[in-house]
Amino acid sequence: MIEIADPDAMRTWSRAERKSGRTIALVPTMGSLHEGHLRLIDRVRERVDRVVVSIFVNPLQFGSTEDLGAYPRDLDRDRAAALGRGTDGLFVPTAEVMYPAPAVVRVVPGSLADSLCGAQRPGHFEGVLTVVMKLFNIVEPNLASFGRKDAQQAVVIRRMVTDLNLPIEIDVAPTVRERDGLAMSSRNAYLSEAERRVAPALARGLDAAHEAFLGGERAVDRLVAAARAPIDSEPALELEYLEVVDPVSLAPVETAEAASIMAVAARIGAARLIDNIILGEGTGADPRVGQ
Ligand code: PAJ
Repeated sequence: MIEIADPDAMRTWSRAERKSGRTIALVPTMGSLHEGHLRLIDRVRERVDRVVVSIFVNPLQFGSTEDLGAYPRDLDRDRAAALGRGTDGLFVPTAEVMYPAPAVVRVVPGSLADSLCGAQRPGHFEGVLTVVMKLFNIVEPNLASFGRKDAQQAVVIRRMVTDLNLPIEIDVAPTVRERDGLAMSSRNAYLSEAERRVAPALARGLDAAHEAFLGGERAVDRLVAAARAPIDSEPALELEYLEVVDPVSLAPVETAEAASIMAVAARIGAARLIDNIILGEGTGADPRVGQ
């Protein structure tokens, strides 16, 4: 596995691989790798000749009051984990080389950032799209993989690729969950033992709504009420949003359909957790670790 910190050196390596006829996949991450990230590597590993994993905690996507400074970082562990899953290239730039000058020109997500996390975190998806565009331009991959755990992120990235004619295939992978249903996240490291026990109520709420949906319920207020029951029973969970949105426009809907996305965000102690399901699918089809 080659480790590269310099964007120009990264592009030189990638171009040499492409020139030799090899295909490349990129898995962008902010590090602190867990099984959710590693399964993205597994998915693309089967499809291309070279897998590049980027690790970069992107300051542009953190609000001024958010956890940029506290975000967990462990490059030694990440290096071993990425290597263990067959990564060929690790791209680990510093903030100084990614943003040598203030990021004046950016990629904007437009109305796709009006709902869900976009409404709660002004500028977040602009920061995500801008860094993902930079990573795409540096690595020039054929394929890039993202997790459905960050459903809004996957939708805005797909749309950027379509709207800006980027020659890159986007793969979206199911959410990898802990045995009790909690969606894996680097931010789960912030949870105390007591908070960790409470956190799976989010996934239970989503599954309660999914059950109601399967039972024929289509009214979003009643689906939301079904999801709230397990969540409200845990006073430590402070709900930020619980919405059903259209999978393309991400606009809230009043009547759910198969493929509508139900998404939730909640604070618990120092952590902000997000999760979602596709109505009609629930969390049942998502892979779980430790079973
Ligand atoms: P990060 O939170 O590190 O996540 C990197 C990738 O892993 C994202 O595509 C995310 O959706 C996916 N992922 C995280 N947890 C997952 C889980 N439990 N199951 C499946 N996939 C999971 O998302 C980012 O970083 C950044 O915004 C980034 C795209 C790297 C841009 O900075």
